[in-house]
Amino acid sequence: MNFDRKFLVCALLYAIAGMSLGIYMAATDNHGELVAHAHILLVGFVVSFIYGIIHKLWLGQPNSAVANLQFYIHQAAALILSVGLTLLYGRVVPAEKLVPALTGGSLAVLIGAVMMLYMVLTTRTVRS
Ligand code: HEM
Ligand code: HEM
Repeated sequence: MNFDRKFLVCALLYAIAGMSLGIYMAATDNHGELVAHAHILLVGFVVSFIYGIIHKLWLGQPNSAVANLQFYIHQAAALILSVGLTLLYGRVVPAEKLVPALTGGSLAVLIGAVMMLYMVLTTRTVRS
């Protein structure tokens, strides 16, 4: 599967997860998971979707080792932040226990973005 399609599939999975949490918040009239909901949808769905579009439109033949690493770093980050924030705002696990994972997840989102910029700058574009 190409990277654009891999990002698209992951993005849609996060859309389903984030919307489900949104419907749960609305149905229970408890918006406590708002921050988790927002980041599942924005980091998981929206940013993954944008990375898929960047692959489709601007990265024809990226260095596959870098592209693979970037894909897994962003997906690991999205998963860690999604699960971590849901546990945090659901008050399932105390904040101090989640800090290392959330810090690592946050930095990984940033590293994923820097790697995407690197690929955009170094890969020959398919169309201009
Ligand atoms: C099934 C669809 C959805 C439902 C039922 C839903 C439900 C909710 C609810 C109940 C809140 C809390 C509102 C509040 O207390 O202020 C919320 C906030 C939020 N939602 Fe959704 N949502 C849905 C889809 C989305 C999508 C698709 C996105 C983004 C791509 C999104 C992004 C956000 C953001 C960023 C916030 C935080 C807004 C703020 O800072 O006040 N939601 N959503
Ligand atoms: C490095 C990854 C990220 C970190 C560490 C981070 C951290 C945070 C923090 C600490 C808040 C305040 C939460 C609160 O109100 O208690 C926040 C809110 C928010 N962030 Fe992020 N964020 C990240 C990525 C993103 C991305 C990529 C987007 C959008 C594409 C985004 C959109 C938002 C929005 C819309 C809110 C307001 C939601 C609300 O009302 O609480 N964040 N973020």
